[in-house]
Amino acid sequence: QQLQYKFPEGFLWGGAIAANQTEGAWLEDGKTPQVTDVMVGIENDGHTPGIRYNAETGRYEIAQDPDKVYLANTGIDFYHRYKEDIKLIAGMGFTCFRTSISWARVFPGGDAMQPNEVALKHYDDVIDTIRSYGMEPIITITHFDNPLNLMTKYNGWSNRVCIDFYLRYCDTIFRRYGSKVKYWLTFNEINNLFRRPFAAAGVLPARTDPDKKFFDQNYTEKEMHQALHNTMLANALSVRLFHKLVPNGKIGCMMAGSHAAVYPATCNPDDVLATIDAKRETYLFTDIMCDGYYPYWLTKLWEKRGVRPEIRDGELEIIRDNTVDYLGFSYYFSNVCKYQEGHMYDGGALVPGGAKTTNEYCNEFSPDPWRFRKDPKGFRVLINEYADRYHKPLFIAENGIGLYEDESKGVPIQDPERVKYLEEHLKQLHMAIEDGAPVFGYCWWGPIDLVSSGSGEMDKRYGFIYVDYHNDGTGDLHRSIKQSYYRYKEIIANNGL
Ligand code: BG6
Repeated sequence: QQLQYKFPEGFLWGGAIAANQTEGAWLEDGKTPQVTDVMVGIENDGHTPGIRYNAETGRYEIAQDPDKVYLANTGIDFYHRYKEDIKLIAGMGFTCFRTSISWARVFPGGDAMQPNEVALKHYDDVIDTIRSYGMEPIITITHFDNPLNLMTKYNGWSNRVCIDFYLRYCDTIFRRYGSKVKYWLTFNEINNLFRRPFAAAGVLPARTDPDKKFFDQNYTEKEMHQALHNTMLANALSVRLFHKLVPNGKIGCMMAGSHAAVYPATCNPDDVLATIDAKRETYLFTDIMCDGYYPYWLTKLWEKRGVRPEIRDGELEIIRDNTVDYLGFSYYFSNVCKYQEGHMYDGGALVPGGAKTTNEYCNEFSPDPWRFRKDPKGFRVLINEYADRYHKPLFIAENGIGLYEDESKGVPIQDPERVKYLEEHLKQLHMAIEDGAPVFGYCWWGPIDLVSSGSGEMDKRYGFIYVDYHNDGTGDLHRSIKQSYYRYKEIIANNGL
């Protein structure tokens, strides 16, 4: 008997993209650079972006390497082609579509006093186009795209001044789009703050620090924890503002869930303790944004290491009283954690929790050139863990598979691996919902090919729709439909498999 995987009535089916990886037009219509405009992928380039310190002016300035291709500057030209792209995407029957607004477009430099009306009008059109196809827009406020000026001028989120700039931006977009956008997400994958401080936190990487003690990057731990507090406070303040301005809307946080999907390598208690360390690095953010408190282990760690951030009177109460309405997260892979000789359990994350090893039980997909360890069942595990821990509605903000694909054969791209990935993850998602997890929607990451954030490549393709653009910047940007497009369309039409 064939198994049925029918989803709940009204379940949101869709896909997600982000401004920084699709729009391009990086200096057009008043937009100023954002952090990813000077990077060739976070993994490849996150520590040496195309900026340089000018000793004469005492400022950092853009200095892109002429031998590199900064694909985000062009993206897939979504800024100009959004109408045709949204139409193609809507052709799959999506009931929701997630994208982000570019802060550096709406408030040039991030610190402008007045918003850029051309940009606001642009997003009016984008949102109206999404809605015209019956799709619920889901808007991410910032997706790896802090305005570069905030990093070079103020040292990014380690400076409290960013909280005010962020709130000014939120106030503008909540008022402008609140009547037509019900679902919002604050900071994309903010739990990358400790792992990818430049892209996710926006603290300058080019500065030298003799200590170099924090994950071998040039920040002090104290600055990182200040950036944590500043973003968490900004999150709570934006939630409070949102509830005042958009009483019927829902605002969520957004996590890179894969980093919380960690198994101990064995039942050796040392492996288990190392795994707790590793998971805490991600859970701490949801403990703050969903539950409203800094976990005990973290306050203890601040004390032990002398890195407690400045927290002013009343701020812990603001964080406690303004938690998010729902928990959004991405899921791509799981991890296995093995105790490393010499590792001391520290009672807290932010210390390497052990070595990541392969998982002998997860080998149904071909080895991934980008080392994403695919594990559909791990999706069910993670969803259940989030449901049990936070008791909030859950939203799958991203899930997908990147593949090398070649369109030159003159026939539509056949992508059975993508179809398999989609189906296997949807089955596990369905089972998690049957387990009782309150998941209200699912977004495929990159329904149209876009620039990878990790590797900065165009040739790591997630789309159901192909875009003719390549790592070296060649290609005429034409779009074509892949085989998987029809399968996802069918699944959505059936409200399941
Ligand atoms: C998430 C991000 O980390 O994963 C996206 O929110 C990103 O911006 C996606 O593109 C996939 O990762 P990658 O490195 O393959 O682009």
